[in-house]
Amino acid sequence: MVASVDRQTALRAEAVPAEVTGTGLEIRDSHAGDARLLFDWRRDPVVIRHARHRSEPDWCTHVNWLQRRLQDRDCLLFIVELDGRPIGQVRFDIAGSRAVLSYSVAANHRGQGHARKSLALALQRLDVERPEVCTVRAEVRVDNAVSLGLLYRLRFVRGVGSPTTRESTAQRGLVTLERTFSEQREDLP
Ligand SMILES: CC(C)(COP(=O)(O)OP(=O)(O)OC[C@H]1O[C@@H](n2cnc3c(N)ncnc32)[C@H](O)[C@@H]1OP(=O)(O)O)[C@@H](O)C(=O)NCCC(=O)NCCS
Repeated sequence: MVASVDRQTALRAEAVPAEVTGTGLEIRDSHAGDARLLFDWRRDPVVIRHARHRSEPDWCTHVNWLQRRLQDRDCLLFIVELDGRPIGQVRFDIAGSRAVLSYSVAANHRGQGHARKSLALALQRLDVERPEVCTVRAEVRVDNAVSLGLLYRLRFVRGVGSPTTRESTAQRGLVTLERTFSEQREDLP
């Protein structure tokens, strides 16, 4: 157990991508006190437009959703902070060796490179905390050019999937992108 904690600590210390050093960007685990923040971000019209599920949750539904997410060990939900202030979120929903990625940056902080750096940080944390995850998938709206461009730059590629899955995703106006990590993890972020 001690050895495992030491390994985690060591990996964490290494786990700051060079491009993030000195930018004031950090990620931390989310907690119940983030409910309002996450609710406001989720109700942003751009986030709703680009969401996989476009419904706008009410407060009670949101609080229950967050409570379930925080209790679920297969959900990693991170808050991105810039100089100690929250500016975005990154979430991984994990099933075995696969994780599904969702993320957003608050409207007044977009277009400044924060998403790219946050994703680099979050992928590092995922690697440290859940090394069994080999594939990260994102379902992106076909017209979400910023997110598609960003994920391609982070070396995500169009997911292969079965023809049936691809067709059903396309019918929902989504593109599936995937990134697979090698066991050596030399390729992060
Ligand atoms: C997608 C999102 C997280 C991007 O956040 P961001 O902090 O603005 O992104 P970045 O500033 O890191 O920019 C990422 C890339 O997109 C480009 N970009 C950013 N805003 C852009 C814009 N309005 N038009 C064109 N390109 C843009 C940047 O130049 C950058 O490209 P580069 O890495 O080649 O320089 C943000 O727009 C958002 O929260 N959108 C709503 C939620 C969403 O779509 N989430 C993803 C669901 S799959």
